Amino acid sequence: MKTAQAFRLGSMGDMPIFPGPRHRPPSKRPIWIIFLVSLVSLFLVFAYIYPPQSSAACYVFSSNGCKALSDWLPPAPAREYTDEEIASRVVIRDILNMPPVQSKSPKIAFMFLSPGSLPFEKLWENFFNGFEGRFSVYVHASKEKPVHVSRYFVNRDIRSDQVVWGKISMVDAERRLLANALLDPDNQHFVLLSDSCVPLHHFDYIYNYLMYTNISFVDCFEDPGPHGNGRYSDHMLPEVEKKDFRKGAQWFTLKRQHAVVVMADSLYYSKFRDYCKPGLDGKNCIADEHYLPTFFHIVDPGGIANWSVTHVDWSERKWHPRSYRSDDLSFELLKNITSIDLSVHVTSDEKKEVQIQPCLWNGIKRPCYLFARKFYPDAVDGLLHLFSNYTTI
Ligand SMILES: *[C@@H]1O[C@H](CO)[C@@H](O)[C@H](O)[C@H]1NC(C)=O
Ligand SMILES: *[C@@H]1O[C@H](CO)[C@@H](O)[C@H](O)[C@H]1NC(C)=O
Ligand SMILES: *[C@@H]1O[C@H](CO)[C@@H](O)[C@H](O)[C@H]1NC(C)=O
Ligand SMILES: *[C@@H]1O[C@H](CO)[C@@H](O)[C@H](O)[C@H]1NC(C)=O
Repeated sequence: MKTAQAFRLGSMGDMPIFPGPRHRPPSKRPIWIIFLVSLVSLFLVFAYIYPPQSSAACYVFSSNGCKALSDWLPPAPAREYTDEEIASRVVIRDILNMPPVQSKSPKIAFMFLSPGSLPFEKLWENFFNGFEGRFSVYVHASKEKPVHVSRYFVNRDIRSDQVVWGKISMVDAERRLLANALLDPDNQHFVLLSDSCVPLHHFDYIYNYLMYTNISFVDCFEDPGPHGNGRYSDHMLPEVEKKDFRKGAQWFTLKRQHAVVVMADSLYYSKFRDYCKPGLDGKNCIADEHYLPTFFHIVDPGGIANWSVTHVDWSERKWHPRSYRSDDLSFELLKNITSIDLSVHVTSDEKKEVQIQPCLWNGIKRPCYLFARKFYPDAVDGLLHLFSNYTTI
């Protein structure tokens, strides 16, 4: 790092590393050697500042191509990290580098965030039935005590607190669910679901999809528009820069290491708690849409899929997504949703730029979605009726 900085400083003009001939004491060596050395070093400095673009030029520097040249010198850090940032980064780095906890009976934690009772318990019961020991259920009911109709949900309520839409209390409820689910060392992957979510596949399919990959499915994209970067506040500096601010749907799945990393974070969490809320500085920042996407984009960008495995249809461009009633249900609708294999993000600026990515699972293009929302409670019978059919796809 030191030499790199010196080298970069050298390029600013006075060249302390490779002093030019004018400042040197008289030398016995022929002047042309000194001249040649300074010419070559000037050339290298120039090449470092303006890396060659063509492959022919790359070959002059290294037979391995341009990458080798840029690897030569580490990039100078854009800024000096704060004490809190360094502390946070070492903790997170070491958690991420630790080998995953081995479990004899790895389970998926299904964490339900709901105001009260869950209208699709019967459907979930069909889904869980026969797979005992490979899942666990947690319910955070923020308004009223739920009435459970399925044995898989009885006694699975965790201590809860009020949740206000758009406020940090939503993130607090997510963290509370994660903390409770982390208590069980067998839980290896953590899925956040709402009361209006339904499964789109057979249990085994979802289990294998989540367990046999090493990434978390956290939705994340850059939105330069008013519903994205327009919600950013400079108060989040220096740790959260505007260029790192991201947006994404709240419904995540996290591998265990990532769930632990979220528990370990207080630095980034406190920035969003204090400076991302509805009405602050005339902005409408929704913490649960920005905290985790931005956090993972900063600490482990390659560790997240950048799409959510929970499908939702925003194509009507309204304030709320499309919600399905009993009458909307059909085998064709569910088949349509389960066959989508492209993830689509649309920016909220006037360009309405559409960003399309294939859903890559361990490098293979696969359907994106395991769950879907939003379904009205009256859809439960229709879904139960269709369940064994559509989940075989
Ligand atoms: C996931 O595993 C693949 C190969 O199995 C590896 O190349 C990749 O770096 C891993 N990613 C993470 C985030 O650990
Ligand atoms: C997610 O996006 C980031 C860039 O923001 C990229 O570095 C990362 O590789 C992407 N993740 C996957 C799994 O492709
Ligand atoms: C399913 O997708 C096809 C093709 O995109 C479309 O024409 C049809 O209306 C969709 N059906 C439902 C029920 O959404
Ligand atoms: C389920 O699939 C079977 C065979 O394809 C079909 O006969 C049956 O009508 C389907 N049931 C429903 C509810 O769509």
